[in-house]
Amino acid sequence: MDHADPPTNDDEYTRFFASEPAPAHLASVAAQVEAFVAHQRVVGRRTVLVTSGGTTVPLEANTVRFLDNFSAGTRGATSAEHFLEAGYAVLFLHRQYSLRPFSRHYTHTKDSIFGVLEATAEGQVQVNAEHAAFAHAVLTKHHAAMARKALLQIEFTTVVEYLYLLQAVATRMAESLGANAIYYLAAAVSDFYLPRTRLAEHKIQSAGAKGLDVRLDPVPKFLVPLVRDWAADGFVVSFKLETDPALLDSKSRAALARYGHQLVIANQLSTRKRVVYLVGHGGDAVHDRAENAARADSAPFRALQLPADLEAQGVDIESLMVPELVRMHDAWIATAATAKAADGEVSE
Ligand code: PMT
Repeated sequence: MDHADPPTNDDEYTRFFASEPAPAHLASVAAQVEAFVAHQRVVGRRTVLVTSGGTTVPLEANTVRFLDNFSAGTRGATSAEHFLEAGYAVLFLHRQYSLRPFSRHYTHTKDSIFGVLEATAEGQVQVNAEHAAFAHAVLTKHHAAMARKALLQIEFTTVVEYLYLLQAVATRMAESLGANAIYYLAAAVSDFYLPRTRLAEHKIQSAGAKGLDVRLDPVPKFLVPLVRDWAADGFVVSFKLETDPALLDSKSRAALARYGHQLVIANQLSTRKRVVYLVGHGGDAVHDRAENAARADSAPFRALQLPADLEAQGVDIESLMVPELVRMHDAWIATAATAKAADGEVSE
């Protein structure tokens, strides 16, 4: 997923949307999101958009083959649970069939659901004694989130779908929720794609072929319009994934300098479940993108490490990350209120 960050200008993402078809479910998603965020606004609940999982890059319009990446959606699904626990509403924009909050405990595991269930002599099926307490807790939390209308899950598969949905969701959240929204961009988004104009319509034939050459184009950096336009006033958290730990600091600061948002969470592929780095001014960021960008070099860089004993007990690193983010978001909301009051005084 890495890349020497190419310059992005407005034309690039406008052209991208003009040339790539919108997903068929865009309008129905937009309507669901509008109703969801309107409800959170009425009940006064802070809301986080969690993006999660990998994006595919189809090689054919009637897709048989596609490029993909490693992301299972663990970070996103686990974070979503912790945000719900912290009282947030969660808009979970996730790759189809990747991990989802709560159900993740029973899918994609080496031990299937059959290790959790038992057949009784009376012809019933029940959770066995070993797993009953945990299953009860998971089920209760899931049902509570749904009953409170605090969780909305939206699916994508391709990188094009992801970007259309990201725009639709973020703009509606920003409009309704302003500084009360967090944008937590944990999805592993492809940096390259095959434009619609060069996609084969049908399955690429292999008979007689000596090989397959595919030239991909760069996907524009959508953090530019997201931070500047779509998620205005919100608290934006991007992620930075590297395999070389030596690059984490510099690449994270480069992202802060480029987008002027509030926080980068940097992680290394091999250690991402044990350690992450928080890079940025977080809640102390100012509401001026250019000023945040100018301060990128002096932004704090802090490691959050899951102690080995907690890891052995099955504790998630997200249980450390989310409370940190909630504290930063508290500060961000307070700054936004002060900035608004000051604006009011100036314009009077
Ligand atoms: O799902 P798991 O298996 O649990 O793994 C979690 C994770 C490693 C995927 C997650 O923690 C993570 O790091 N996600 C971001 C991965 C990624 O895309 O990193 P990147 O360095 O390639 O991109 C950096 C940022 O640019 C991302 O926030 C992305 O949203 C953004 N981006 C990417 C491509 C693009 N065209 N436009 C963008 O704005």
